[in-house]
Amino acid sequence: MSDVKINIIDREGTEHEIMAPTDMSLNLMETIRAYELVEEGSFGICGGMLMCASCQCYQLSATPVPEMGEEEEALLYSDGVHVKQNSRLSCQIPVTEELEGLKIEIAPEG
Ligand code: FES
Repeated sequence: MSDVKINIIDREGTEHEIMAPTDMSLNLMETIRAYELVEEGSFGICGGMLMCASCQCYQLSATPVPEMGEEEEALLYSDGVHVKQNSRLSCQIPVTEELEGLKIEIAPEG
């Protein structure tokens, strides 16, 4: 069993350092919800089905994450609000050992 350390800034600007398990097939969106860093019902609304864009986060560190897929990009730029250059949909990023040291900020509610 191994955990990775991830820093997450919530929507109030508070930074949380969490340990995320890499052996539970979780993605970042599910991890953020599991730690209750967002208000219930305002984040990850579609459950990771690439239908809502509510799981948007900003990537703040240069940690390597999987590249954005076409569907993620299309949804982000059609449904996302407050979209920035470093925006990602967190449900599309699996928690793996490569994420050690990742820093992200949860985007404001749309
Ligand atoms: S949870 Fe809906 S797109 Fe990520």
